[in-house]
Amino acid sequence: MRIGVLTAGGDCPGLNAVIRSVVHRAVHDRGDEVIGFEDGFTGLLDGRHRPLDTNDVAGILARGGTILGSARLERDRLREACDNSEELIDRLGLDALIPIGGEGTLTAARMLADAGLPVVGVPKTIDNDISATDRTFGFDTAVGVATEAMDRLKTTAESHQRVMVVEVMGRHAGWIALEAGMAAGAHGICIPERPFEVDDLVKMVEERFAREKKFALICVAEGAHPAQGSMPYEKGVIDQYGHERFVGIGNRLASELEHRLGKEAKPVILGHVQRGGTPTAYDRVLATRFGWHAVEAAHRGDFGQMTALRGTEIVMTPLANAVSELKRVPQDRMDEAESVY
Ligand code: F6P
Repeated sequence: MRIGVLTAGGDCPGLNAVIRSVVHRAVHDRGDEVIGFEDGFTGLLDGRHRPLDTNDVAGILARGGTILGSARLERDRLREACDNSEELIDRLGLDALIPIGGEGTLTAARMLADAGLPVVGVPKTIDNDISATDRTFGFDTAVGVATEAMDRLKTTAESHQRVMVVEVMGRHAGWIALEAGMAAGAHGICIPERPFEVDDLVKMVEERFAREKKFALICVAEGAHPAQGSMPYEKGVIDQYGHERFVGIGNRLASELEHRLGKEAKPVILGHVQRGGTPTAYDRVLATRFGWHAVEAAHRGDFGQMTALRGTEIVMTPLANAVSELKRVPQDRMDEAESVY
């Protein structure tokens, strides 16, 4: 079998573990040929690829990023290629294509599958917001990085009697904010799923200081937004889901709190540090399992599907399910998080 693999969209710790696993299972165990496309779908459309054998993937299990490179999707070019799918299928000469990526990549994967290409998807995102799988690899690493950062920020905040507002990733879903916030014992967690009231945060900080607590920690997802009228703000941008988004919510919330509390409030934007570096053991294992099962699915001819974690099992699920809706933090998970502070 000739199998193509590519990584597309934002990078994520664990991508290399999937590539390694695909090569080990396909080349070593099953005698397949594997080629890696460079820079995501761009490499696929430009015909930029290289053979991958077990030597090429030696030592990459613990390495962050992706040895194949990644790029954002050029949707129009891909659509055009799908319209001429016979030419694309002939040119690629693949028995299976394994694209590894998030929502945009899986949507593209579905387009290619609908156009007749033998596609098996592998989901990834540090945001953990793909509804068809219980977990995505990269999430555990991102939560660990954000937790460690907040643990460190607590000690410096306490020394200076400050409020720390830590902005973590999560454009449409607040999973990183929820879990890192809980793990670090944040006193306030703001997520995109639930507009926050600035008054509540002000009250919480005042009560803490009244109880002789010397600092407060607030974890805010980048996609979180204040309830209407709760914070004087410029108009946000309406996103594809009809939600109003604000760029730089961490900075804006910190300055609002500083103004209202008369205490120093420092914004810390964690940004891409959450996506870089070595994956945790959990993410390496999940990524390796996804790679193994993707190759098996290709051999069974399970195309138009993607790997998914259900409980402890890896299952195959239609690519259509991957992108039908985002997995958002439910209210009961927020209730649990709030009862800890
Ligand atoms: O989708 C994952 C994600 O990490 C988001 O949380 C974040 O908004 C985005 O990627 C940023 O990606 P980039 O800066 O690479 O476009």
